[in-house]
Amino acid sequence: MTRRVIIDCDPGIDDSIALCLALFDPRIEVVAVTATVGNVDAHQASRNVQTIIEMLDPPRWPRMGMARSDEDVSITIARELHGTDGLGNLGVQISELHHQHPSDKVIADAVRNEPGELTIIALGPLTNIARALNRDPDLSTMIDQIVMTGGSVQGIGNVSAAAEFNCFMDPESARAVFRSPITKTLVPLDVTRELIFPFDLVSRLPSQTSRAGGFLHHVVPYAFRAYRQHLGLEGIYIHDAVALMAALQPELFRTEEMAGDVETQGELTRGMTIFDQREHRDWRINMDVVVDLDVIEVQAAIERGLKYAGQQSV
Ligand code: BDR
Ligand code: CA
Repeated sequence: MTRRVIIDCDPGIDDSIALCLALFDPRIEVVAVTATVGNVDAHQASRNVQTIIEMLDPPRWPRMGMARSDEDVSITIARELHGTDGLGNLGVQISELHHQHPSDKVIADAVRNEPGELTIIALGPLTNIARALNRDPDLSTMIDQIVMTGGSVQGIGNVSAAAEFNCFMDPESARAVFRSPITKTLVPLDVTRELIFPFDLVSRLPSQTSRAGGFLHHVVPYAFRAYRQHLGLEGIYIHDAVALMAALQPELFRTEEMAGDVETQGELTRGMTIFDQREHRDWRINMDVVVDLDVIEVQAAIERGLKYAGQQSV
């Protein structure tokens, strides 16, 4: 039976690659893609979700959810790595932004419609999930599980010395989700950074004549250029595709039960994830955290998935 998932994301190049994989993967049905603020502001995130779905035109179109935000944020490193539009300055004009419901409503309605059935794959800041829980607290017992990109066990961040981007952008929401009773798997930076894709990935992308290939041949080379220019790296991380794979093929990952929380205040540590790993900890275990992955197999699975997306979108 295909698993039914909601993808909540802030596209973002790695989010968009994860969407390419998910929208064509026969093992899952993506019932909704909801936009959240993060790599780009609310309006751009909503546009990007629609642009990606229109460009890829998958066999089944998911519902879309619109990001909303009171303030529009812009983080330099996100702009540098993803481009000002989040998609490597793709420059595609969607005809018109569809009328979409707010993401937290789309999530709440979908979960209520199918209690116990849906997995949420959260690839951006956890704002929408926290809002949905706030709107309807009973949802926490109706979501099958959440798999999320975020945090760092060793405390080495990417947006600041201590914080991972998604937790930094909305630490209050991350804390609310971490503290909720939902079954959770966290895919932290320690693991997503284990897999560095080399430049020759470009030569293994699907043909540009396919819809997925055409899109990927724009965003992936952009990412390689940006990582070289801004991080001095000759390869790229595709964090959110790794998190998606942790949901799809958990046998390629090793997890440990942990007691985790998020710092919401610190001057230097806002958004830092903290795990109580004392021998006599007094925090309760509240999530599975991915601590290791089969680098070669996960890379192969991602590349296979992209190839398949190409074959399905000629
Ligand atoms: C996360 O930060 C974002 O920029 C990426 O899309 C990913 O979700 C990794 O820290
Ligand atoms: Ca993301």
